Amino acid sequence: MALNLVMFGPPGAGKGTQASQLAESRQVPQISTGDILREAVQAGTDLGRQAKAVMDKGELVSDEIIVGIARERLSRSDARDGFILDGFPRTVAQAVALDEILTGREALIVVELSVPDDELIQRLSRRRVCGQCGATYGAADGESPVSCASCGGALVQRSDDREEVVRERLRVYREQTEPLVAFYQDRPTFRSVDGNQSLDAVQTAIGLAIEAAADAARGQSATIG
Ligand code: AP5
Ligand code: MG
Ligand code: ZN
Repeated sequence: MALNLVMFGPPGAGKGTQASQLAESRQVPQISTGDILREAVQAGTDLGRQAKAVMDKGELVSDEIIVGIARERLSRSDARDGFILDGFPRTVAQAVALDEILTGREALIVVELSVPDDELIQRLSRRRVCGQCGATYGAADGESPVSCASCGGALVQRSDDREEVVRERLRVYREQTEPLVAFYQDRPTFRSVDGNQSLDAVQTAIGLAIEAAADAARGQSATIG
């Protein structure tokens, strides 16, 4: 069965960290709309210029632009047999569009990572990213390296990880993205995981959640078929 997964949760929940490990072990692409936007900012394209202003305020880029990006990315051949969406969808309009984009594909599994606000704020204040390759640092091990272990690039703070922007991102999450829990929670393929544990414990919990959701999806298609 293809792994068609949405990694869902607030800023700092660990979506990117967990999605990249899972993408490697399951051999499917990690599709992060935030990473795609940051690449456009780096490249200095029109999209990047528009997106930077919005991202640095902690607001959301328009549904129209984001849905266009997701539709194009999901249509590529490497996403045909599975994908992990990280940071998309984050409005009800995006979730409706995603269902339409995925018509005819295997069931979408949605895993929510739940983490309390004070932990999110701490994680984001500690996070450092590689200015060259984008690798993320700052896990709970207390170590704060100064250069990237994989490429040697200098580690910097993400421009939207300043405290006042983090608070706005959390506010926007509660207002525009959290309603998606109600949109998805009645589906048998929706699972919520405690994201406030060690990296390994969260990874194990996500693996179990995916198995349970896939079983539920198989059960459902057996009933229908
Ligand atoms: P995006 O890049 O998606 O940011 P986000 O959703 O705010 O999430 P983060 O990347 O900050 O957190 P994460 O959950 O990935 O956590 P991470 O694994 O890094 O979006 C950025 C912006 O782009 C948006 O604000 C918006 O403007 C725009 N955008 C993107 N998508 C959009 C969309 N669909 N629609 C509209 N606009 C969009 O972990 C965080 C830190 O915690 C790291 O330092 C990590 O090492 C650490 N950590 C992780 N797990 C643990 C753990 N278990 N214990 C301790 N520390 C941990
Ligand atoms: Mg991320
Ligand atoms: Zn690097």
